[in-house]
Amino acid sequence: MKGMSDVGKSAIASAVIDSEEARRAQEAADSSADLPARKINVDAMKITQHYDKYTPENHEVWGIIYKKRMEQLVEFGSDVFLSGAKAINLRSDRVPPLKDVNARLNELTGWSSHGVPGYLPPKPFFAFLAQRQFPTTVTVRPKAQMDYLPEPDIIHDVFGHVPLHADPVFADFLQTYGKAALHTTSNHHTERLARLFWFTVEFGLIQESGKLKLYGSGLISSEGEGHHALESPKVDRRPFELERVCETTFEIDHYQPILYVLESFEQLRDAMQTYAERVLDEAGKLDELEAVAK
Ligand SMILES: [Fe+2]
Repeated sequence: MKGMSDVGKSAIASAVIDSEEARRAQEAADSSADLPARKINVDAMKITQHYDKYTPENHEVWGIIYKKRMEQLVEFGSDVFLSGAKAINLRSDRVPPLKDVNARLNELTGWSSHGVPGYLPPKPFFAFLAQRQFPTTVTVRPKAQMDYLPEPDIIHDVFGHVPLHADPVFADFLQTYGKAALHTTSNHHTERLARLFWFTVEFGLIQESGKLKLYGSGLISSEGEGHHALESPKVDRRPFELERVCETTFEIDHYQPILYVLESFEQLRDAMQTYAERVLDEAGKLDELEAVAK
């Protein structure tokens, strides 16, 4: 999910989704937008992945993109992404069943992924993360739109995001992020946290064994964006520094001209922990951090 950036985008119609269940779930999400954190019930926003309703074309599209992306990622995807994809048993021959993914994730980090009908308002989205849960779309893009789809689908969400949730360090980072973003009441911090999400979870690069690697979902799931991020001389690749990231504005809908490069996921987790302590202390919610699973 692109979180804050997908306002107004609608999900692809698909038999995989029960439309009545989706309508109720979307209504629950929309009506939770301004609720206090403790009143947000993420379970009401979840929908069933009717797995037997995926068409042969859905599985085919997943497989084509999976194989095409892995050609680059095998060499230029973060090792943490690659081992995570293996750990949750992503395969080229079928759309991943969330039940199967979750059985594996649960053992590794306690994270899980859950079908949602489409765009979630920011606070409900953060409420999922704060509970080590990831809201994902379950639809697959049509074959005619394989190269570019403006809204997220299961390829962006599960192929692009979920493998990192199998890594204990990234898993802690993302939950801590969710807690800070959920509980802050400051527009200043909310804006900074949106930038942090953008430049890490969506478009992050990392240095591994002296090589530049992709880990952000927008780079993992898009061939054009992936090549641009690694190779284009027009990209300003800056060493990750949380304060600087939080002050960098981003633009959507074209290739990213600025990217930030991590030294390690520990660097990201530790910087987030420090920043979350500050954000939650200001919100009088410092005790929320004690609940982050280790
Ligand atoms: Fe995303």
